[in-house]
Amino acid sequence: MRALTQDRYGWEHLRVGEVPDPEPGQGQVLVKVRAAGVNPYDWHYATGQPLVARAMMGTFTGPRPLVRGADLSGVVVAAGPGVTQYAPGDEVFGFGTGGTFAELALAEVGSIARRPVDLTHVEAAAMPMAAVTALQYLRAAELRAGQHIAITGAGGGIGHFAVQIAAAWGAEVTGVCGPRNAAMVRELGASEVIDYTKDDVTAGERRFDVVFTNAGRYSLRALGRVVVPGGLVLANDGSREGLLGPMPELMTAPLVSRMRPYRILNVSATTSGEDLGVLEGLVADGVLLPIVSATYPLERAVDAIRQVAGHGHARGKLVVTIS
Ligand SMILES: NC(=O)c1ccc[n+]([C@@H]2O[C@H](COP(=O)([O-])OP(=O)(O)OC[C@H]3O[C@@H](n4cnc5c(N)ncnc54)[C@H](OP(=O)(O)O)[C@@H]3O)[C@@H](O)[C@H]2O)c1
Repeated sequence: MRALTQDRYGWEHLRVGEVPDPEPGQGQVLVKVRAAGVNPYDWHYATGQPLVARAMMGTFTGPRPLVRGADLSGVVVAAGPGVTQYAPGDEVFGFGTGGTFAELALAEVGSIARRPVDLTHVEAAAMPMAAVTALQYLRAAELRAGQHIAITGAGGGIGHFAVQIAAAWGAEVTGVCGPRNAAMVRELGASEVIDYTKDDVTAGERRFDVVFTNAGRYSLRALGRVVVPGGLVLANDGSREGLLGPMPELMTAPLVSRMRPYRILNVSATTSGEDLGVLEGLVADGVLLPIVSATYPLERAVDAIRQVAGHGHARGKLVVTIS
């Protein structure tokens, strides 16, 4: 099959080529990939940034698996031993294992769900990592109706889902984004939009119950200043590079939380098929819609990953179309 592969860190090592077809193991299905969402996760693997994360991404010199991509939407073509939930022909979306920028991909049955009937494969492929991360953060925050939440990176992958979910739950949403995305963020449910090129959300008199930071490289101390006493900072901006990236701030967050009048929370999103089902329900209810601003053929998947690298400026989601 054709796939975007990489045996060493660095953009120059990404190439589309032939690799052996994967075979489903216990509890896995083999999916013919129709579309695969692009995430900053793919940039981390492509470049091996931050360096400390290489311990989790593979070896110090190269990523594992060899095929890039995490999200997928497609059609089951084979079921591995022990799989009763899915059969060939079923249309699914979710998290692949072993890479999804490929004609075929494996997925654990617990990490996929049936494709929402209202969404195309391209739209469904835009959801898994970004929408599940948004949902798991807002749930961990126990966000309630009437609370005021500020969301940075509101026009990007996680942010545009978070704006919609928070608004659907009855929260008052302030979206922080660039001027290009302001109208979209308002349409998605934000009652107020802060254009970060003109105003600084961490300055001024505004106070929020929750600040959910996905971009902007704000210091947690600065964000803490704009939450109410007892408020919450959801620290999810992983865009820093270098040796340690965002790790020092995140590792000291529990200690800092004890010394300051606000809490800091970092959630490591899990590949939950159950949460994909929750999102499917929100789509069916008409309160959640993925915005896909561009699609790329497999041959140009690297260009798509570059768009979400570091301090990226993606609008909604970018999706690689495979077949
Ligand atoms: N915790 C987890 O398990 C988990 C899972 C997935 C991803 N992540 C992390 O989540 C972060 C966000 O991911 P994503 O998929 O949403 O990224 P994305 O799709 O690239 O979106 C980032 C958005 O931020 C906006 N932006 C850039 N600079 C900004 C600024 N100064 N202030 C406000 N917005 C700004 C960009 O557009 P404009 O500038 O044009 O508005 C873009 O829309 C990444 O750092 C990623 O590593 C964490």
